[in-house]
Amino acid sequence: MPFRLPFFPEQASSFAHEVDALTLWLVGMAAFFTVLIAALVLVFALKYRRRSPDQVGTRFDESPLLEIVWTVIPLVVVLFTFAWGAKVYFRLYRPPAGAVEYHVTGKQWMWKTQHPTGQRELNELHLPVGQPTKLLMTSEDVIHSFFVPAFRVKADVLPGRYTTMWFTPTKPGRYHLFCTEYCGAEHSRMIGWITVQEPEEYQRWLASVPVAATLAEQGAGVFARLGCRECHAAGSEAAPALAGLYGREVLLASGASVRADENYLRESLLDPEAKVVAGFDAAMSTYRGQLSEEEILALIGYLKSLPAPSTADVAAPAESVMR
Ligand code: CUA
Repeated sequence: MPFRLPFFPEQASSFAHEVDALTLWLVGMAAFFTVLIAALVLVFALKYRRRSPDQVGTRFDESPLLEIVWTVIPLVVVLFTFAWGAKVYFRLYRPPAGAVEYHVTGKQWMWKTQHPTGQRELNELHLPVGQPTKLLMTSEDVIHSFFVPAFRVKADVLPGRYTTMWFTPTKPGRYHLFCTEYCGAEHSRMIGWITVQEPEEYQRWLASVPVAATLAEQGAGVFARLGCRECHAAGSEAAPALAGLYGREVLLASGASVRADENYLRESLLDPEAKVVAGFDAAMSTYRGQLSEEEILALIGYLKSLPAPSTADVAAPAESVMR
């Protein structure tokens, strides 16, 4: 049921209608009760006013029925609102498995973005219409916040960890991007544009931007430069193998287990002793301060691109798996 509210930004993502409907419900409910209560206060003040100086109030016996009614009705209303809000929230915060991933790095005072195919942009992001899109975001300095009103999505962008957001753009056009966390002198100028294009047009745009390597290839370069393979070869006893690691549950030396997501990979790179894999010694030294956020993102992109080894490959020599 598409509808367009006056004074609202354009609805250009799959969430826009849902978020607007929920907003309308919350505002409508608040307005209804505000008017109802204000009217009752006025009516009762007139109706039950003291009419002569010696008049006293009459006793009011409590009424269980009345109390049940005014408890149950608000309870039903707030539980309904909670269930509706939770439904929208879960959809908003769980990217579908097939979403295409783009990287966003916030920095005083600009947005740096990168496509999976390697193209970089500054304060701009081109996207094809209809594509479920996931943003993996981090900051190089302070807390920023990524807000695209037309998509009805907003998420804080934090230094030292990754946050994600996802949406499906539904309408070609240019949409304003804002930083919505005060981040210093030029916070108000930390703005940009999301350009949503028809898929063919997007492909033409991608082809028009010179790019040396895809994200995974750039990551492979960093991987080779740092010599990660010396320890992390498949079948190595010095360090865990990395192929197919992303997304898997990892058993730790502490007995706990952790899912190998972006934040885990990042932590293992910068703070290797935080979560040591079961069966290995804490032998790796930190790469903190040696890598830019872009290089870390590229490395993680490379690790995610490595296919899980088939059972035959596990037994095969290291070189055949880690090209
Ligand atoms: Cu970045 Cu405000």
